[in-house]
Amino acid sequence: MTVKKAVIPAAGLGTRLLPATTVLPKEMLPLVDTPVIQYVVKESLEAGLDDLLIVTRRGKTALEDHLDSVAGGTGPLQGSPRGVLGEMACIHFVRQARPLGLGHAVLQARFHVGHEAFALLLGDEVFRSRVPCIRQVMEAQAILGGSVLAVQEVCAEDTWRYGIVDAVQVSPGVSRVTDLIEKPGPSKAPSNLAITGRYVLEPEVFHALQGAEPGVRGEIELTDALRSMVRMGLSLWAIQVDARRYDTGDRLGLLRATVEMALDREDIGPSFRRYLEGIRLAGSSDPTPG
Ligand code: G1P
Repeated sequence: MTVKKAVIPAAGLGTRLLPATTVLPKEMLPLVDTPVIQYVVKESLEAGLDDLLIVTRRGKTALEDHLDSVAGGTGPLQGSPRGVLGEMACIHFVRQARPLGLGHAVLQARFHVGHEAFALLLGDEVFRSRVPCIRQVMEAQAILGGSVLAVQEVCAEDTWRYGIVDAVQVSPGVSRVTDLIEKPGPSKAPSNLAITGRYVLEPEVFHALQGAEPGVRGEIELTDALRSMVRMGLSLWAIQVDARRYDTGDRLGLLRATVEMALDREDIGPSFRRYLEGIRLAGSSDPTPG
């Protein structure tokens, strides 16, 4: 069955970006002039998903208000080839009452999703790619069945930032997952394949999440639920996606995304590039102060 529903968790506290996120949801921080959440919504629409459920929490009403304006056609969906959001998709919200982690946020989607496979896009991760990143995962799932995760290679010193998969390659870029571990140090990481924030999941994940115990961070981890699905014999695949990824919940990630999105823009890209070249030249000829 074609995947039509997207779940977008956007209930994280944004502690890595304080003080900017004291009252502003991290997903509302702009990349140039467009909030992060709008890139994630746009990726969903470009992949053909037309039923979007956003998981929010207390203090995130700015996000809901913003998407209302986009859905109602009073705000532009930046760069969209197909017009206003309200004509392209239904957008729904559900709230996570307590900050119990990503797995718990996903669990809040169970009644809306029902008994079908769904796309999961983490609301603070933005991708640049020729084919929308979630579309790459959906296309793989249509062939492989089961649940599919997007993965990318990371260096050994970064494995502690991610869920890492243990997997057996079956064809170039496609592996069958045999185990997963959340945020392992380099000595415990079974590979260098990190889970990025795009998934297509079977509804069995809700059952697994309901039985999940809090993990290393005291939160209900999605990775632990996926691990129990593998142990129950359900198919889980990892595909290496062809995309540039930005973790906009991280200061450096947000800055990188901002600079690269700005360089890409037709309106301001050329003058921003000249500006960057100017400060690089000025920087290289100036003696370091102090
Ligand atoms: C979450 C997942 C992790 C994944 C990461 C990608 O971690 O738990 O498996 O690798 O997203 O960004 P978090 O961002 O909540 O620390």
